[in-house]
Amino acid sequence: MNIILIGPPGAGKGTQAATLVKKYNMVQLSTGDMLRAARTSGTDMGNTVSGVMDRGELVTDEIVIGLIEEQLKAGDGSGGFIFDGFPRTLAQADALNELLSKVDQKLDTVIQMTVDDKVLVNRITGRFTCGSCGEGYHEEFKKPATHDKCDKCGAVGAFKKRADDNEDSLKTRLMAYYKETSPLIGYYYAKGQLQQVNGLNSIHSVGLDISKVMAGVS
Ligand code: AP5
Repeated sequence: MNIILIGPPGAGKGTQAATLVKKYNMVQLSTGDMLRAARTSGTDMGNTVSGVMDRGELVTDEIVIGLIEEQLKAGDGSGGFIFDGFPRTLAQADALNELLSKVDQKLDTVIQMTVDDKVLVNRITGRFTCGSCGEGYHEEFKKPATHDKCDKCGAVGAFKKRADDNEDSLKTRLMAYYKETSPLIGYYYAKGQLQQVNGLNSIHSVGLDISKVMAGVS
């Protein structure tokens, strides 16, 4: 099954995608993670997108479509793909349809994670990840068992925050979401592919709701 998780910054797309990877052996394709990896490794593309990302603006369609194309061609998608943070514009949505058909795949469902903007500031400013294995945490909602030590890989002192996880960038990211990405809700609704889950529930309940949606589609 190939699914899109769609929602504003902090809706919980990455958190739920990580669970689906473990539960169903799916492949998570997060354009945000791919772009951050390009920045860390200092590629030309990574340097180009660096300021754009820190400001919370969208990277060009051409770059992100290229990244997804590479992954779809290279990856073993037998467990299905989770598109996390892609598509974010109508041009990206059209490109995804074409790319999937080129690799004899189709999109099965689009899951919109509905949240209230008021919770997003807290979710985003409280988020941190393990710099060693990438496991995600939150100061209030998902604390590590031992302070400063990653539950997953055991790394100590490796927690870090994203450069764009501040209130100023979040405002720009939210504007970009409502202006460029929210039209996709109507686009997928019209295609009969849109499902919704309440992203305000606990991380565990949202995961159960996503599994129910997927079971209903398959
Ligand atoms: P990207 O990395 O995709 O960021 P985003 O869309 O802003 O989404 P986030 O990762 O911030 O949020 P999330 O929904 O994954 O939340 P999470 O699960 O971590 O993109 C970053 C940048 O890259 C963009 O601004 C843009 O510049 C560029 N970019 C990427 N893709 C692009 C594209 N396709 N086109 C153009 N540009 C692109 O959860 C957040 C926190 O809340 C965590 O701490 C988590 O523990 C906690 N949490 C999660 N769920 C719950 C819950 N139910 N209850 C309580 N806490 C929860």
